[in-house]
Amino acid sequence: MNPDKKHLQLLQRALTDLEQGFGRLPDFTSATEYDVVAGVLETVAHRMRDNYPYHHPLYVGQMLKPPHPVAHLAYTLAMSINPNNHALDGGRASSRMEKEAVEEIAKMFGWSESLGHLCGGGTMANLEALWIAREINTDANRPVVLASSQCHYTHSRVAALLAMPFRAVAADASGAMDIQALEQELQQGDVGTVVATLGTTLCGAIDPLPQILKLRDQYGFRLHVDTAYGGYFTLVDNLDPHARMAFDAIREADSVVIDPHKHGLQPYGCGCIIFKDPGVGRVYRHESPYTYFSSDEFHLGEISLECSRPGAAAVALWATMQMLPPHRHSEFAQQLQQCRQTAMQFYQWLHNSADFTPLFGPQLDIVLWAATAQSASATSRRSRQLFEIAAALDLHLAVATVPRAMCVSLQGIQDWDQDHVECLRACVMKPEHHEWLPEITARLQQSLAQLENQA
Ligand SMILES: Cc1ncc(COP(=O)(O)O)c(C=O)c1O
Repeated sequence: MNPDKKHLQLLQRALTDLEQGFGRLPDFTSATEYDVVAGVLETVAHRMRDNYPYHHPLYVGQMLKPPHPVAHLAYTLAMSINPNNHALDGGRASSRMEKEAVEEIAKMFGWSESLGHLCGGGTMANLEALWIAREINTDANRPVVLASSQCHYTHSRVAALLAMPFRAVAADASGAMDIQALEQELQQGDVGTVVATLGTTLCGAIDPLPQILKLRDQYGFRLHVDTAYGGYFTLVDNLDPHARMAFDAIREADSVVIDPHKHGLQPYGCGCIIFKDPGVGRVYRHESPYTYFSSDEFHLGEISLECSRPGAAAVALWATMQMLPPHRHSEFAQQLQQCRQTAMQFYQWLHNSADFTPLFGPQLDIVLWAATAQSASATSRRSRQLFEIAAALDLHLAVATVPRAMCVSLQGIQDWDQDHVECLRACVMKPEHHEWLPEITARLQQSLAQLENQA
């Protein structure tokens, strides 16, 4: 939901309140140029129409969730100061808010003495996790990073950037890491780091973290959890038992990535990396001739790879967490729980449908399905056509390429003329999707009827 008129009045009040804090300073004026601003804004508004309607419940395509109004407002409020959370002299209040917000996220995973910070997003956060893994690895014979073949593509790229050899571990039919395949890789004796994904980007699959931890006891490696998408689901009560156990096991990992800009109701530019052992801060240590002079308290720039970072992002997150603390049984948890419930209802609808076949039950709130045809390529074509027809009916889905091994349920496909199928994909990330599910399924059915009429 976007801020409404009343929200904007509240913002005006808060801006005045903030200004009063600097009221003793002499007045100054800067150029206003209202006419020019109005013209530019009008052009921006027109250009921005060339987007899918991400904010609307009929948008169920990619991982896009509207920020909470309080995040909008707090971000804008903070922008009147435009703090930089690199160092305390760039953003004293917002740095403290960042530390508090990150501490609260760490507690969600059961950590009370950890070290973490916000960053640009999941990619940057995973880069820092693998960089630390490389820096503290004392065994030159174990440089390899393993992650599932369904992990986010960022891991192989980041590993290449860090000159760390990367190997993908096979995934099972549900998209989760295959534990036997992992053990085979570990037997090679060259693995220093394993990345477990709790909530894969394709379908929200959950790698079997408790079993991975058992292998860590046996083989010894650093364990990083990428839960950029899924992390907040640790708060919900309607996970499958193996997912619940995996989320509960995060506390045993060495580092974790979660993106407040995915399910944490934040504008983009808000990822988070947390290390269980605060001692890894030593790896970040560096001198700066320009900053860190204003306080002996530690500066976030001293434990972050990025230098300048938006204080406003921390303020927005902090403000949102005041309103919606990330606690179990909270309103925030219930909203996520509702998304998961909607995904399960959508899955059930697809399962009961004579026209569509879901791939497997969702673990989080991402659903994959197809309207099968005789061959894998014809099924893929139908997915692309349905995507277009649905969009013309204002229902916005996504198309995702799924390996054959994950298409066990698509038994309608007789001819495997390619080793993958393009399927339809929905991320039912908005609590409103619950109420809108009948409309979504009606439009999906209508899209199929149109496709069949065209044939
Ligand atoms: C599991 C996972 N890891 C990492 C990323 C990359 O995050 P970002 O797009 O914020 O850089 C994503 C993005 O979808 C993700 O789903």
